[in-house]
Amino acid sequence: MMKISLNKNTFYRNFGDIGYLFNQSNLVETILDEIGSIFLSNISRYPTSIREVSKKIHAQFQETDILTIENDLIEFISSLEQNSYFDFHGEPLKFKNEAGSDDSHTATSETSYILKKYFQKKPTPLFAHLEVTSACNLKCVHCYWPNHNVNHLPTNDALRVLDELRAMKCLHLTLSGGEALLHPDILSIIRYARELDFSVTLMTNGVKLDYQHLKELKKANLSAVQLSLYSMNESVHDSITRVPGSYAKTISAINQLLELDIPIKIACPVMKQNYDSFISVSEHYIPLGVFVDHDMEIIPKTDFSRDNIDECRLSENELYIAAEKIHNISAISKSEKNINIEKPKNTRAPDDPVCGAGIQMLSISNTGDVYPCPTFKYKIGNIYKSSLSDIWHSKEIFPIRSLTMSDYRKCQACKWGEYCSICPANFYIESGGNYRTPQDFFCKVTEATARANRKP
Ligand SMILES: C[S@@+](CC[C@H](N)C(=O)[O-])C[C@H]1O[C@@H](n2cnc3c(N)ncnc32)[C@H](O)[C@@H]1O
Ligand code: SF4
Ligand code: SF4
Repeated sequence: MMKISLNKNTFYRNFGDIGYLFNQSNLVETILDEIGSIFLSNISRYPTSIREVSKKIHAQFQETDILTIENDLIEFISSLEQNSYFDFHGEPLKFKNEAGSDDSHTATSETSYILKKYFQKKPTPLFAHLEVTSACNLKCVHCYWPNHNVNHLPTNDALRVLDELRAMKCLHLTLSGGEALLHPDILSIIRYARELDFSVTLMTNGVKLDYQHLKELKKANLSAVQLSLYSMNESVHDSITRVPGSYAKTISAINQLLELDIPIKIACPVMKQNYDSFISVSEHYIPLGVFVDHDMEIIPKTDFSRDNIDECRLSENELYIAAEKIHNISAISKSEKNINIEKPKNTRAPDDPVCGAGIQMLSISNTGDVYPCPTFKYKIGNIYKSSLSDIWHSKEIFPIRSLTMSDYRKCQACKWGEYCSICPANFYIESGGNYRTPQDFFCKVTEATARANRKP
């Protein structure tokens, strides 16, 4: 008899009245209702016959006969089958509805809005960011870290945090720094994160990537390795990292990852130093199917000092021209997965959350400090003083969690609003502590993006 299992790229969390299903390979996600969640909870990573799965479900619905459950289960599977969530073993299933139909979406579209609304009422850290170290082997001119003193999060504490996050139903885990590959136990941390069934993204400059990393990363089946590359012009890249030879090492890391078919993304923030050549990164990598993100929002350092932005930020006129280039490059992009332009955001109602910080996202630093998101250095606790769960449920997080669009009147009336991420973290870092007031520079970035996108 045909057996079914969850595909290795499928991740699932059950929140009781809804469930969340995600395929890290095609980035499709689905929100399931309560019954769908129960069905899905009974499909594991181990091949199990439809009859066995039905029996397990039947144990929870004894009043319904097993044949009805089996038919409903087959219908349920058929509605999701097109998203590659499952592996089928043995005799193929005969689906009634061949095409299948369901409410799945690629990540970044409606699902994220529905989830945010849901987590506004039932906060859950579906996304977590762990800074495993402050150490770094580069000295990037734009970097928001005030210093790179060597201070690794102890491995035992990192593993404990992962246990806690898993218990809190986190699914998307990002490991970063500083430079994460400088953590002496980064591979054990990754291995443990995968044992706990997180979908893991590793952020790195790639400089230290070696054979052992590559071997383990391939085995780990990560969601993605995100590398920072600032230009295809070696001297421009190295002038940003301020380490000669870093370009060659990052390019070599990218090539080796591509060769091994390990999924990668490229982050290419746009600043004065790479203004003339940042687009070369997209021109080179988008045709190879690699997602490239060009972010023009260079933020101050997390201690609120601003020497990095003074050196790096684009002028208003440069923002317009860069936004045009970013918009135009989307024309050579083959699929939605590879488009790096801003998409219009959902229209927001006054009681909608502004962002996911403290609602569906949290961040833990190398010193154990806990924040609502990685760049929002508004401290809500420390893992050496309280459990993550206690921090998540404490009153410290409330001012951030309770922010709604009604707190941002200017944004509600703004004609560029649909292109804006409205980021309280950016407002906070820009203003030196005020997360409630939109800040001019970010409004200019939004306007430049919106104008470029609205052009025919
Ligand atoms: C802080 S780094 C950590 C990971 C790794 N060291 C790297 O450089 O990729 C994460 C990303 O933030 C970007 N970044 C650093 N400082 C920034 C700033 N002031 N504004 C915007 N992005 C910044 C980097 O270029 C990189 O893509
Ligand atoms: S951006 Fe990344 S690589 Fe560059 S200095 Fe900062 S942490 Fe290091
Ligand atoms: S551009 Fe400025 S005012 Fe408009 S929505 Fe964004 S942050 Fe608010």
